[in-house]
Amino acid sequence: MELFVHDTAFMIAYYRAKYEEESKDPFARLWLRPGLEKWNLEFAKKVSPHDDMQHCMRNRFFYDELEQLCEAQELLLLVNFGAGFSMYPYSLSPHMRTLEVDFEEIVQYKSRKIQEFEENGLLPTRPVQHLVADITKDQDVLRTSIAHYGNCFKVILIEGVFFFLSKKEIDAVISNCASMLDPGDYLMCVSFEDRLKQTPVFDRLTHYFSEVLKSSENPFTTLSHDFYSNLENFQLLRFENGLSLGKKLQLFPDDLDENEVLNEYYYVLQKK
Ligand SMILES: C[S@@+](CC[C@H](N)C(=O)[O-])C[C@H]1O[C@@H](n2cnc3c(N)ncnc32)[C@H](O)[C@@H]1O
Repeated sequence: MELFVHDTAFMIAYYRAKYEEESKDPFARLWLRPGLEKWNLEFAKKVSPHDDMQHCMRNRFFYDELEQLCEAQELLLLVNFGAGFSMYPYSLSPHMRTLEVDFEEIVQYKSRKIQEFEENGLLPTRPVQHLVADITKDQDVLRTSIAHYGNCFKVILIEGVFFFLSKKEIDAVISNCASMLDPGDYLMCVSFEDRLKQTPVFDRLTHYFSEVLKSSENPFTTLSHDFYSNLENFQLLRFENGLSLGKKLQLFPDDLDENEVLNEYYYVLQKK
C-alpha cells in the first residue's frame, strides 16, 4: 500500500493507541486500520525506534495543558489547526468547545466517522465543529469561524504541522493567529529545533519523506527557541520537549542522547 503525507495523521493515531495510558488518548484506537503496524515497524527501522513514544509525549503534554485550562476557564475554545485524528475534546471537559481545522479529505472522513462513533456509543458527544480550511491561505474563513465563539478564552494549537510549512508560511500563520486572538489567549506550537538538522536521525527522516512519502517538496522546517521568544505579539510562557518529558516519566532511558531522537519542542505562548 502506498503512503502519503496525509497518512502521517493515521500513523500518529497509531502511536497514541499503542501507548494509550502514556499518551492519555483512550480514543486513538478508533482510527486503527490495516497497514499501520507495518509502517510503524518500517519507520522504526529506517528512521527512529523512539518516534512512537515521542508522539505520545506530545499528546500528553498538550492534554495536561488543556486540562488545566479547562479547570481555570469557564468558556474555553480550542482551535486545532491541522487537527488530523487528534481526540482532545472526547477525554477533556464536555464544556470545552473545539474548532478543528484541516484539509477536506481529513475533515470529511473524520467528521463522518465521529458521527458514527457517537451514534454507536463509542464516543461521548462533544461540541466540536469541523472546518475545511488551509491554515496558510484561508484567513477570512478562519477569522469568521473563530469570531462566532464570541468571548471564549481561546487556545490555538498547531502540532505536527510546522515541519510541512515554509518559514514564510509559519510567519504568516502566527501573525494571523495574533490577529484572531485576544490579549491573554494562548497559542501552542510544536516544532523541531534547528540543531536537529545536524543529526543523522534528521537525515534519515528527510530521506524517508522523499523516498517513501514521495514528498521531496516538503520544506522540513525547523525553528530555534529564539524564534518563539522574539515573537512580537506573544510572550513565551514555557516550553518542554518530548525527550525530557519522557525521561521525567521514566519512559525513555536516562542515557538516551538527544542526537538520537526526533525530539520535538512544545511551546506555550500568550497573546500580549
Ligand atoms: C502530522 S498530522 C498531525 C495531526 C495532529 N495535529 C496530531 O498531532 O495528531 C498533520 C495534519 O495537518 C494537516 N495540515 C497540514 N498542512 C495543513 C494546512 N496548510 N492547512 C490545514 N491542515 C493542514 C494535515 O492534513 C494533517 O492532518
